[in-house]
Amino acid sequence: MSDKNLESILHESRSFPPSRDFTAGARIKPADLEALTSEAAADHESFWARLAREEIDWHTPFTKTLDDTNAPNYRWFADGMLNMSHNCLDVHLKANGDKTAIIFEAENGDSHTLSYRELTAAVCRLANGLRALGVQAGDRVVLYMPMTAEAVIAMQACARIGAVHSVVFGGFSAKSLRDRIMDAGAKMVITADGGHRGGQIVALKDATDTALAEGCETIEHVVVLHCTGHDINMVEGRDIWWSELVDGRSDQCEPEFVSAEHPLFLLYTSGSTGKPKGIQHSTGGYLLNAKLTSKWVFDLNDDDVFWCTADVGWITGHSYVAYGPLAAGATIVIYEGAPTYPDGGRFWKICQQHGVTIFYTAPTAIRALMKFGDDVPLSHDLSKLRLLGTVGEPINPEAWMWYHRIIGKERCPIVDTWWQTETGAIMMSPVPGAMATKPGSCTRAIPGIAAAIVDEQGEPVEAPNMGGYLVIEKPWPSMLRTIWGDNDRYIETYWEKFNGRYYVAGDSAIRDEDGYFRIMGRIDDVLNVSGHRLGTMEVESALVAHDLVVEAAVVGRPHEIKGESIFAYVVPRGERPVGEDAAAMTRVLRDWVGEELGAIAKPDEIRFADNLPKTRSGKIMRRLLRTIARGEEITQDTSTLENESILDQLRGEK
Ligand code: PRX
Repeated sequence: MSDKNLESILHESRSFPPSRDFTAGARIKPADLEALTSEAAADHESFWARLAREEIDWHTPFTKTLDDTNAPNYRWFADGMLNMSHNCLDVHLKANGDKTAIIFEAENGDSHTLSYRELTAAVCRLANGLRALGVQAGDRVVLYMPMTAEAVIAMQACARIGAVHSVVFGGFSAKSLRDRIMDAGAKMVITADGGHRGGQIVALKDATDTALAEGCETIEHVVVLHCTGHDINMVEGRDIWWSELVDGRSDQCEPEFVSAEHPLFLLYTSGSTGKPKGIQHSTGGYLLNAKLTSKWVFDLNDDDVFWCTADVGWITGHSYVAYGPLAAGATIVIYEGAPTYPDGGRFWKICQQHGVTIFYTAPTAIRALMKFGDDVPLSHDLSKLRLLGTVGEPINPEAWMWYHRIIGKERCPIVDTWWQTETGAIMMSPVPGAMATKPGSCTRAIPGIAAAIVDEQGEPVEAPNMGGYLVIEKPWPSMLRTIWGDNDRYIETYWEKFNGRYYVAGDSAIRDEDGYFRIMGRIDDVLNVSGHRLGTMEVESALVAHDLVVEAAVVGRPHEIKGESIFAYVVPRGERPVGEDAAAMTRVLRDWVGEELGAIAKPDEIRFADNLPKTRSGKIMRRLLRTIARGEEITQDTSTLENESILDQLRGEK
């Protein structure tokens, strides 16, 4: 890279307008974006009402757009009736039944496709099977699945019968699974014997058995997909093979039409305090935003092949694998395995093989793939790509430029999409044919989304490059409805800070001279590890649950690939271990956290101390711990420290 490039990257002042060709073929051109933006500004509710009428096939049309009687428990299109799966599948059958809906590739390289007609039939057969097992509208079904086409089939089948799914990421531990099953009061688990990841088998059914060994009384059945074929235990009367459940079932299944406000799914995510929150999403509003952003942001056209690499265990895998693109009638790619298996060229090989035109991934994956060198992507044919996207954390300009030059060949716009589990769909992003992009900026809110930056008093921050709280000023259709079983926590977490005036995202942001947003990171004690949120509190609770640990504090430290890595300070029971003993205890505790929460939550480093730095009022000085973890010089006032001598131990010096 030339010096000139480097310098402009450091100043982050470069701007990349879309090519004339891209704009000419784009769904949304500059004039369309302007028209949508002014329509939304003129009348927020009518804007969303018009789109809801146009984009959704309603069984019963809605008469009221937004009900704010119980704000901030907003309701959208509440008296309208619809079915999600009908809107993702049946609506395409007449004109596009033979179009490929899913291209699936297994980790071993096997692949197959499903047309919209085949996908619909598979969804219906499973939906009929679930009904036969007594699953009814409103029942919760936990999915603990590998990233296969069947994961999407299971989600769609739940949606078809009005059951509320809650997908638990396959990398989470048995204990995490149990906590989520119990919190949701789930009736059923759908899992697989195992999944393939990095050449290993992920023992999903074994973990399910462990989870169900305690509590979980609400579970009546476990449906097991045959995937790895290794030996597992089947509990008589409780467990049933997927293949047996669907065998001989009709491929027609009358959808359950539900209110637009009917919960489509719960998805658990971390907060700064307490246990994970079951984020509850609606059916109608969620569908509307997931579908619209698939069209506006990803510019999906008839012949596109869209690959969003996210697992269905995360919100991205819900909105941009299982629902949005299917509602838009697109062809999607699903890949089961690890990005770097068997080598760092796997993603590019998949793009080449299946002619991927739109590729959406996370900055952490881009950084990891950059490490393999330019030759790896350059030796693959990526000429079909026309649009790239990122999500999950701020993308550093260096990674953005690499993505732009080496993957996009300076031809593909990059959509840096900002959103959250709670927002349901993309909130801020370039609309690629209609505006210029800038490295590291998610640019502007999409039409109908009122994003702003406010100060501590809730007053708008107008000056460029001044930081503040990122807030959303008006309700939007795909917003979360509540936290499952804890509406007080919903209000407290997202609305209380500014007395209900705004939705508070929990991120800080700035806006540059052009009004482009740049996300600075979380303001609470939430880590962003590889684009996934983890509460420091959860990792701390896991650590102190071990017999060897008295107290623990966890902070994030910048990490080249993962974004943030987990750094834990631990006060052990008894003698403080040093040398080999410390290394051994670190291994024990890392494995323990892996078992309690999942591998993603394992601390990268653990430092043992006789005590933690506290103020005289007993509060752990987290900011100080963060400084130490980063190896930075301590500039904070340490005079209030009760035990200043502890600092040397925390620095690892004694
Ligand atoms: O801090 C922001 C960051 O990820 C958080 C949301 O995490 P989660 O609910 O797990 O959803 C991730 C996928 C939608 C946000 O509060 N984040 C997400 N996208 C971006 C981002 N930070 C900067 N730029 C983004 N594009």
